[in-house]
Amino acid sequence: MISKETIERIRDTARVEEVVGEFVNLKRRGTNLLGLCPFHSEKTPSFTVSPAKGIYKCFGCGASGDAVKFIMEHEHYSYPDALKYLAKKYNIEIEEILVTPEYQEEQNLKESLYAVNQFAEQFFIDQLWKDPKGQAIGLSYFHERGFSDEIIKKFRLGYAQDDWTHFTMAAQQHGYKLEYLKAVGLTSSGEKNVDVYRGRVMFPIHNITGRVLGFGGRTLKVDKSTPKYINSPESEIYNKSKILYGLFFAKSAIIKEDNCYLVEGYTDVISLHQAGIENVVASSGTSLTEGQIQLIKRYTSNITILYDGDTAGIKASFRGIDMILEAGMNVHVVLFPDGEDPDSFSRKVQHNELINFLNTNRKDFIRFKADVLLHEAGTDPIKRAGVVRDMVESIALIPDGIVRNMFIQQCASIMNIPEQTLFNELNKLRRNKLKEKHKKEGIVPADWDVMQTEPIKIAQPIQLELNTHAQEREIIRLLLNYGYHDLVYHEKNEDGDTIEFREKVYEMIIDELSMDEINFTHPIYQNIYSEFQNFCNHTHSQEAIQQFFIRHDNDEVRNLAIELIIPQYTMSKNWEERLHVFTVPEEEKLHASVVEALHQLRLRHINLMIDDEKKKLKNATDAEEIFSIMEVIKNLEVMKKKLSEELTTVIHPL
Ligand code: CTP
Ligand code: MN
Repeated sequence: MISKETIERIRDTARVEEVVGEFVNLKRRGTNLLGLCPFHSEKTPSFTVSPAKGIYKCFGCGASGDAVKFIMEHEHYSYPDALKYLAKKYNIEIEEILVTPEYQEEQNLKESLYAVNQFAEQFFIDQLWKDPKGQAIGLSYFHERGFSDEIIKKFRLGYAQDDWTHFTMAAQQHGYKLEYLKAVGLTSSGEKNVDVYRGRVMFPIHNITGRVLGFGGRTLKVDKSTPKYINSPESEIYNKSKILYGLFFAKSAIIKEDNCYLVEGYTDVISLHQAGIENVVASSGTSLTEGQIQLIKRYTSNITILYDGDTAGIKASFRGIDMILEAGMNVHVVLFPDGEDPDSFSRKVQHNELINFLNTNRKDFIRFKADVLLHEAGTDPIKRAGVVRDMVESIALIPDGIVRNMFIQQCASIMNIPEQTLFNELNKLRRNKLKEKHKKEGIVPADWDVMQTEPIKIAQPIQLELNTHAQEREIIRLLLNYGYHDLVYHEKNEDGDTIEFREKVYEMIIDELSMDEINFTHPIYQNIYSEFQNFCNHTHSQEAIQQFFIRHDNDEVRNLAIELIIPQYTMSKNWEERLHVFTVPEEEKLHASVVEALHQLRLRHINLMIDDEKKKLKNATDAEEIFSIMEVIKNLEVMKKKLSEELTTVIHPL
């Protein structure tokens, strides 16, 4: 294992702009660098690197992280491999520390299981190609299905003899222990030590580096009493919720096409490959898991689900769609003609026709949901209202505000409903979700329930909230009062020349917060912030936006907005009159105020994240998990320290 000190040195030394710069052509833009995103295809650059913050972020596809993360994502390296890469680049000597005996033992066990599976894969391949029975039964079955020799070899398909001990005996003769044969589910766990796979064609299941984790064995019998597939059980090396069939073979095509087709079965994957579509994986009959979605997300943020023509399973699939949306990915759906699945259809038509079919029948999830649900609801208005709610519920899961708004607009036009109605529904849902999340995580201020159940009257102090959400309140205050004011500030560029920057207060705030992926934790502030974002696209005056909030039909929002907008006129005058002090009008120090407010909010956000991780640490049991949580906490503490320093030096120079 790489020592913590080495990891720290690597992280300290690696400059994000240098690491990224090796793969992406970066141009300076203000304090940041800009280039074409390597993780999705684009024509105008939205891939931003911030040397100051040590991070990159693509505003097109959302990819973000630090130098190490970049190498992991771009080169598809594991964490240790990415560290090794950077160590080599910066000539840092890697100090390895001894691993514990338990860790070593676990690694040894895993290696033994991999070895057994690798032997089995080759054994079944040999049976298929070299054994007369294998050829007559297994190989001819694949040929009848239309699989070419080339594709059978590529997917390393095999055959297991219809015999009780053929495989187990051979494996033992080659020195593989019974214990391991049982652990991976190749030999039955009972006393008799018989082969689990008998008279079946074998589909090995690989991880992303191509190692065999398990098998799916398809029966060649037609009688209904034998299960169609026998699949390997979960084991030390096989965690089904984190594996997708075919991903090993699909990886590079997924990156190239920037899309991943998702199908149901082994044969769908293989047939599509044979038809020339290689960016395809299967969830293998189980429902999609979050781990599987995250796997795909390493290569693309676009998933296209391919469904059989029979509509029975379609509504059940909505859950999967929602999970993909929640992961911040785009999801499309293609429905095959009745009675066809990707396997049968791809064998029926020519390559061009298939591509054409996939492209012309591809629907985004909103269109798909609308078609399926509206068909069901007919003209019944109550049912149609249910459909709208259902669609908005899905949209509410999308983390990106801009994408959310786009789908709301689309939904409004499909359903012929005013956008604002849908936005209201959406905000309600998101607020409730946030509330639930906070309750679960325990970040709830004591006065939460009072706040939620009683609308706050203006006479009653909203100040109760001041302590816990002061930083969020300050940002909102700045937006409501000065959002459209111009900020003019100066920064030195790399040549030491001073450059003048000019942008609106709201542009700076929205850019910075989205770059840092900061959301408000208090629902009212979040609510006002999202409404502000929606509105600033249409409205271009401070006055108009203030009026909008002052007349807002939500009591809490209206009262808070008024509170925040009014005092500035009264307070400074009062002070001057009463204390005879000269106060600098806020307009004149706006840049400093905005920068400070953003810093304070970040600091608070980091504190919340640290609390969060510490809570996770308490419940963590697995050593690897604990290690990675501690790593996260450490990074957060470093960021916190940097931020605190910047706050004192930049904003309050001594
Ligand atoms: N599956 C399974 N066990 C079963 C049936 C199905 O594990 N008894 C999984 C397999 O991963 C299978 C997928 O669900 O690939 C899809 O099922 P199905 O469409 O029935 O199988 P196909 O692989 O398409 O097989 P075939 O085309 O030969 O019927
Ligand atoms: Mn099938």
